[in-house]
This record gives sequence, C-alpha cells and structure tokens, in this order.
Amino acid sequence: MEHANILIVEDEDVQRSLLEDLLRKEGFGAAGAGNGADALQIFKEQPIDIVLLDFKLPDTDGLTLLKQFKGMNPEAEIIMITAYGSIENAVDALKSGASEYLTKPIDLEDLLFKIKKIEEKRHLVHENKVLKEVLQGRLKTANFIYTSDKMNEVVSLIVRIAKTDSTCVIEGESGVGKELVVDLIHELSERKDQPLVKVNCAAIPDNLLESELFGYEKGAFTGAFQRKVGKFELANKGTLFLDEIGDMPLLLQSKLLRVIQAREVERLGGLHPIRIDVRIITATNRNLEEEVKKSTFRDDLYYRLNVVTIRVPPLQERREDIPVFMNFFLKRYNDRHRKIIKGFTNEARDILIKNDYPGNVRQLENIIERAVVLTRGEYISKEDLPFFSAADQAPAGGGIKDVVESMEKKMILEALIKADWVQTKAASAIDISERMLRYKIKKYGIKTN
Ligand SMILES: Nc1ncnc2c1ncn2[C@@H]1O[C@H](COP(=O)(O)OP(=O)(O)OP(=O)(O)O)[C@@H](O)[C@H]1O
Ligand SMILES: [Mg+2]
Repeated sequence: MEHANILIVEDEDVQRSLLEDLLRKEGFGAAGAGNGADALQIFKEQPIDIVLLDFKLPDTDGLTLLKQFKGMNPEAEIIMITAYGSIENAVDALKSGASEYLTKPIDLEDLLFKIKKIEEKRHLVHENKVLKEVLQGRLKTANFIYTSDKMNEVVSLIVRIAKTDSTCVIEGESGVGKELVVDLIHELSERKDQPLVKVNCAAIPDNLLESELFGYEKGAFTGAFQRKVGKFELANKGTLFLDEIGDMPLLLQSKLLRVIQAREVERLGGLHPIRIDVRIITATNRNLEEEVKKSTFRDDLYYRLNVVTIRVPPLQERREDIPVFMNFFLKRYNDRHRKIIKGFTNEARDILIKNDYPGNVRQLENIIERAVVLTRGEYISKEDLPFFSAADQAPAGGGIKDVVESMEKKMILEALIKADWVQTKAASAIDISERMLRYKIKKYGIKTN
C-alpha cells in the first residue's frame, strides 16, 4: 500500500510550505491550501487520505471544513491544529470526527508520530478489506474455513505477509491445517500463477532427499541414467514448501542454507550453478527453537527460514471452529460419496462439539467422513461416531491397553478397506509410516490377501 497523500490547510505560507517539505521528505504525497475554498477544491480532485487542518482560516473555520471533508469521504483522517490552550476547540473537533489534534506551535516529531499512527490504522483497514474479499471470493477455492478470532488473527497475518517474499515457518500440531496455510499464502502471493512445489522431508529417505531437492545430471553416480531436475528448479519463480523441515538431516541443512544464501542450486554432477528465485515456506510440528537448542537444527538456517512464524493454534484453543468444520466436512463428504445426509442428530452434534481432538482438524474430518460413509440414516447419529459404535466398546474386563488396541485394529482395518488395500494410501490416511502399518498388520493378524 502506498504512503498516504496529505493535504495541509494552513493560511500562513511559511508554515505551510515547511510542513509540505517535511512530509515529502518523509515519503508522503503533500498538497497545500491557504484557504477553505482551495482546500475543498483539492480534496475533491485528489485522492487525499489525511488532512492537516488549521482551525482559523480566512474564509471559513476548520470545524466547518472538517464536517465538509467528512461528508465527502468519511474515511478521510483529519488532524486538527488548534491554537495553544483552546481545549474546547479540540474536543469539538474530535466529536466531529477528527482523528487527532495538535496545538500550535506544532511539534514536528509529534506530528510525524501521529501521522504514522494513522497510517498504521489505514493499513489495517486496508488489510481487513482485502481479508473480506479473500473470504468472499478466493477462499471458496482454497476451502480454508474458520470463524474463531484466533484463526482470524492467523489469516490476517497471512494476508499481510503473502505478498512479500519473506520465508516463513508454519508451526502447529499435526492436523491443524499447516499445509492449507501454505496453499493460502501461495494463492494470495504475486507468485500464484507460478508453481507451488511441496516436499515432505520426513517422507523421503535421507539419501534421496538431496537429489530430490537439487537434482542430478545423467551419470552423476551409478544409477543416474537420466538427468533429474530438482524441486528447487521446479519451483523457480514460485514457492517451495518444505514440510517437516525439522526432520531434515544436518548435512543437508547446511547445503540448504548455502542454496538460500547464494540463490542458486547445482545439480549433483552438474557443471554450472543455476540461478533460482523461489520463496521458501517450511512447516514443522516440532518446536524448532528447541531443536536449535539441542543442536539438531542449525541455528543459522533457523534464523534464515524463520523471518515470519505463523503459529496455527490447535483445535482445542479455538473450539468455536468445531461446528463450522462439522457442517463443512459433512457437505464435502456428502458430495464426495454421493450421499444426501441431512445433518446430525442433536445427540451426535452435542458429542462432536464437546469432544476433544488431539488429532485436530484432520481427526474431526476423518470422524465425519467415516460417519458419512457408514450411516444408514438421514442424520448422523451417536452410533455412527467411532467412540460409541458397539464394536468400539471395551472388551469385557479389558484394561486401557485392550481398548486402545481394539480401536487401533479397527482403524487400520477401515483404512485398508477404504484405500482398497493399498498400504501406502492406508498408512498416510491414518498418519503412520508404512513400516509401522506392516508391523501392525502382522501384530493384529489382519489378512491382506
Ligand atoms: N481451516 C481449515 N479449513 C478446512 N479444512 C481444514 C482446515 N484446517 C485443516 N483442514 C483439513 O484438515 C486436514 C489436515 O490439514 P493439513 O494437512 O493442512 O494439516 P497439517 O497441519 O499440515 O498436518 P500434519 O502436521 O500432520 O502435516 C486436511 O484434510 C485439511 O483439509
Ligand atoms: Mg502437513
């Protein structure tokens, strides 16, 4: 957003041009008027954001003019200048819509301070407008929903930083929506028509991660039959999302740091560095600051990546979002599974609203999807919820371990069925590693063929 345009209405010529010069030097647009008629003319013709308005004018008085300005543009910010000691004038001015007042002789520092304060407010108003537009239009495609104040804060931070190129770290528990935040930042950025490339550092074995990121030339090592273009290059001009950055091995961390600093990558076995222009966004459900303290994460890389931290709060801290999510996911899975479930029984709704979700939004989403798939009624009822269906009841005489295990077995079985027995898919659906899934399948004697 550009610096404000300021109109100075003051009949003393010397004083007026002094102020004009000062404000221009500070980067503002400045225009001057020596009387009310000129002032009105300029106000009509130019995009004036702020008016510095003297109380005493040759052809009118400041208060009258103030009301005229406000009548034409209620968003205009007016700073009244009153003679020393005329506090009633100041009060009148504030009542009539002035934002600030100053007394003569003008303390220039104070004036600049007040203007900057007004600027900050203007920027905020501007952001909120953008935010509204985002919510009404854009977010329909991004499907990013919330109603809580906490998420509202997160979103306004996103709007503020999206258009800059600053690197950011998205922190938050598993399933809070970190990846969606990344989508949103990209979508709102100037890079939106360029690629958004995602790499999950935890999902790729350490020895492959390097070539995944930086690529290699044909013949760079045994088995490199073909050139591979790295993710950095693929993301050129766009955004590179490094998920689970906390899991990146130390050695690679230093290489990453070098790439970021030099703004160029070199393919393994490559002869020339390649210039790249990417915005890097990272996410983690670890506390990176802690990792830095434990020396498992390089501090220099951390500072480099962490220009802005966006902390996505757990669902527990914004429970107002739960009902909104319930309806949203009901609709999503109705559509996806061609169902026409009308809603929740009061009992089921109540249970869902009061339930705790350590797995955050993802867990709530899974519960709703499962209920949509399973229910035979028009409404999702208590019996369709995992914690209450008969099969999930504790085995007679069982302790907590048995309960957990029987639930786990059931979840795994369901995930496998839903994934058509494709283990990679099932594992990621319930957020465990494939290796862990194979182990559990064996443990519970689940037949897979
Ligand atoms: N604000 C939201 N609006 C709509 N859907 C959401 C929102 N937040 C989370 N979700 C949904 O919850 C699920 C988990 O979100 P996401 O993958 O972004 O979480 P995450 O924080 O990246 O989790 P992890 O740490 O496990 O990678 C997704 O299916 C996502 O669509
Ligand atoms: Mg994620």
